[in-house]
Amino acid sequence: MKLPDLKILDEKNKTLRKISNEVTFPLSKEDKKTIEDIITYLTMSQIEEYSEKYDLRPGMGLAFIQLGIPKNIFVIVEEVDKGEFENYIIINPKMLSHSEELIYVGEGEGCLSVNREVCGIVPRYARMRVQYQDMEGNTKEIRVREDISVAFQHEMDHLNGILFVDKIDPKNPFKDKEKMREI
Ligand code: NI
Repeated sequence: MKLPDLKILDEKNKTLRKISNEVTFPLSKEDKKTIEDIITYLTMSQIEEYSEKYDLRPGMGLAFIQLGIPKNIFVIVEEVDKGEFENYIIINPKMLSHSEELIYVGEGEGCLSVNREVCGIVPRYARMRVQYQDMEGNTKEIRVREDISVAFQHEMDHLNGILFVDKIDPKNPFKDKEKMREI
């Protein structure tokens, strides 16, 4: 595999604070290529051989805005089995409903735009239903839960210019811990 040359913006970059725009169809060639590149990058970052070779931080999600492109598109690559990956290509997502139950990632969330350790709880819905469009522009619906639900919310925040670190109170990073379930 060849590592795509992606320029991922750092949290200090103000572009990350932009609100991304609705995508129209058909997708442009460039956008399709960017989606493919993100899939390759995220997959390689989760394979030890490549993450070591290229000094990559493992990541499972990336939004277009993290490459400086303010479009409502994100990609998630999940390792479902050893060396087996499932891709989510999500365009123009809208949350339809969510669980009452809140969860948080015990070891903390990570983001390819945040190059430092950040401790603290980011409350996320345990489950939600999301409407989105696929690469052909078909409207679809998906139910997500647990870590994929967290990943979706993390990426949907990016589309609104929000980073996970914004949701942690630096004075009390573990606030309301007892009201949520750790995953
Ligand atoms: Ni992120």
